[in-house]
Amino acid sequence: MTPSTLHVVDHPLLLHKLTILRDKNTSTKDFRELVGEIGMLLTYEATRDLPLTEKEVETPLCKTTAPTLKGKKFAVVPILRAGLGLVEGVLRMVPSARVGHIGLYRDEETLEPVTYFCKLPKDIDQREALIVDPMLATGGSAAAAISFLKQYGCRQIKLMVLLAAPEGVRRVQEEHPDVEIYCGAVDDHLNEHGYIVPGLGDAGDRIFGTK
Ligand code: PRP
Ligand code: URA
Repeated sequence: MTPSTLHVVDHPLLLHKLTILRDKNTSTKDFRELVGEIGMLLTYEATRDLPLTEKEVETPLCKTTAPTLKGKKFAVVPILRAGLGLVEGVLRMVPSARVGHIGLYRDEETLEPVTYFCKLPKDIDQREALIVDPMLATGGSAAAAISFLKQYGCRQIKLMVLLAAPEGVRRVQEEHPDVEIYCGAVDDHLNEHGYIVPGLGDAGDRIFGTK
């Protein structure tokens, strides 16, 4: 099977905001706001192929038919906890989306994901799901979250991250070749602690101010 497509959304506004996120002196408040804004910009691309239909509308001048979203079967699924930072941006773009939560943390020694929570919309098997997380590092968390959704019967899944490492992109593409990935940038490598270099540090700690 051919690997899934990697979409690097290299829009100047997004890249500018990403650079501010990388700066270690950026405050928690600014960091959180920027994650939300970048979330909106990425959502714009990640939803580009949402199906449309036509509906009749009466403008002040005449009746016409115009495009409207077909169905409202969309769900955003943040990987807790850092993924929460992206939810608001997605919902600003797709207000009718349902929200599912998958709680995973990375064991600091093995770097393998540990699951501690999962609550998904009941009809997730009929929805297109957009998994969101700021960081795709080893890819363990994203690959596990995708497997989770698949176990619940979800068949249309996309992954949206701010920053990716080549290792994480490869892992998701190999394990889930059907899942397209949207990101702001692919950085150079992972360090010995599994952090993306140059990266932006620990996304969860910077969003929530926990360090
Ligand atoms: C971070 C990040 C991803 C994961 C990426 O979460 O938000 O979920 O690490 O790493 P991986 O690709 O190697 O799995 P973390 O485990 O630090 O938890 P947090 O969101 O609670 O901070
Ligand atoms: N998780 C983070 O928050 N940052 C990284 O660089 C890697 C994993």
